[in-house]
Amino acid sequence: MKLRNKDLLGMKELQADEIEEILKTAEMMKMVMKSGNKKTSHLQGKSVVTLFYENSTRTRLSFEMASKFMGAASANISTSGSSVNKGESLLDTARTIDVMSTDIIVMRHNQSGAPHFIAPHMNASVVNAGDGMNEHPTQALLDMYTMKEKYGSLDGLEVAICGDLYHSRVARSNAIGLSKMGAKVRVAGPATMIPHGFGKMGCTVCSSIAEAVEGADVVMGLRLQLERQSKSLFPSVPEYARYYSIDQKTLLLAKPDALVMHPGPCNHGVEMPTVVYDSPQSVINEQVTNGVAVRMAVLYLLMARRNQE
Ligand code: NCD
Repeated sequence: MKLRNKDLLGMKELQADEIEEILKTAEMMKMVMKSGNKKTSHLQGKSVVTLFYENSTRTRLSFEMASKFMGAASANISTSGSSVNKGESLLDTARTIDVMSTDIIVMRHNQSGAPHFIAPHMNASVVNAGDGMNEHPTQALLDMYTMKEKYGSLDGLEVAICGDLYHSRVARSNAIGLSKMGAKVRVAGPATMIPHGFGKMGCTVCSSIAEAVEGADVVMGLRLQLERQSKSLFPSVPEYARYYSIDQKTLLLAKPDALVMHPGPCNHGVEMPTVVYDSPQSVINEQVTNGVAVRMAVLYLLMARRNQE
């Protein structure tokens, strides 16, 4: 099966069969990763450029490793050190990369909709690696892969997403993607940080972390994104941690072997204490590993579509 669109802009644009296909392909890619020889020729003779206007450790590195494992020529360009600092526009910057015969541009930007804006002007396929407070589709895909690895299916899974929902593109992409795959999403956080959109997406909006976590198969914490907060949405960080941290006591309310997840980076002691982050239930490191496999799958499927055109 091939992907319907040239670009991967959000979970909103993906249909359930495409999500299935990406997750299935990622399984094969994980086997490649875990084998002694991490080299394939799927992207040989192709090029991938990561264009990051925001900080990143996991996402950028995993796209770069994924490209390299599959034999692509890959390069990274970030705002510091590029002509963006000389005032070059987003479109001119992206066009400059595109006309170097680039096949895939992976972009992270602090403005929601930035990849959607450039994509129609590009010959290259554009992958959204996080746009402002909108979406982060490959993070949701790797989260869904991690859940599927443990439970076999996403259908009927009870997933609690807790914390700073307002600023979280990860939460938004997961809520959209998980609902498409039949999972039931509950969200909880300070009332000032729960946008109405979550209710409209079919998520259950809970009044406490305990209510969201009770009986859940998956408990996902979200980073408190103070860098995006222009006005105060809660009294203080210690107070936030007191009411919205996923602590050991709260975790006991979930199913006994429920997964603990977090997209990273984590503020230890705020979203969850270190004992929960490092607990046997935590798959936070697996999420990072799976991120490489899922991004290999995304690059592979987008390239397969390009090759057929
Ligand atoms: C997330 C992001 O950038 O949206 N991180 C990530 O990609 N692993 C979440 C965050 O920054 O808190």
